[in-house]
Amino acid sequence: MIMSKLIVYGEEGSLLEEVSDFEGISRRLSEIGVLFERWEPKISLSVEDSEDRVMEAFKEDIDRLMNEYSFKSCDVISLTPDNPKKEELRQKFLDEHTHSDFEVRYFVYGDGVFYLHPNDKVYVVHCEGGDLISVPPNTPHWFDMGSEPNFKCIRLFTTPEGWVAQYTGSDIAKRFPRYEEIVQLG
Ligand SMILES: [Fe+2]
Repeated sequence: MIMSKLIVYGEEGSLLEEVSDFEGISRRLSEIGVLFERWEPKISLSVEDSEDRVMEAFKEDIDRLMNEYSFKSCDVISLTPDNPKKEELRQKFLDEHTHSDFEVRYFVYGDGVFYLHPNDKVYVVHCEGGDLISVPPNTPHWFDMGSEPNFKCIRLFTTPEGWVAQYTGSDIAKRFPRYEEIVQLG
């Protein structure tokens, strides 16, 4: 049972809406140009699987998005709580930033929280294994993997340089609940 959720806040911090059903999350996010899909592996996977095997399990979905959005490459990354750089890696994405690239992440397993700030609202999405989310180009956002990150993700890229973060300089991320608080809500 996947327990993903979307919490919408006003940018000043007022709670506007909580959505936990897939259709509802997908519909609201599509209104701001964000893809939210659920993928199933076509072969059974385990935590130790190679990048190639993970790609094979999701080949149809990966190919569909590659064709539809002209992605040039994709890879698989994973992070576990024993990573000595986990705090540094967490910090890197915790401040509001944009990319010129379309950022797409599929969670093979594990979880993380995306914060999207496309207008005067902040859309907080707790993604879990099975979820795919996109961040449209130039949309202010940040990401929190928590203090004990544990996930494996497929990433799709249009250009390698496009993924470099441009920080907006805003401190808005500091005023919103972090990963630990979000996963406990609801
Ligand atoms: Fe980002």
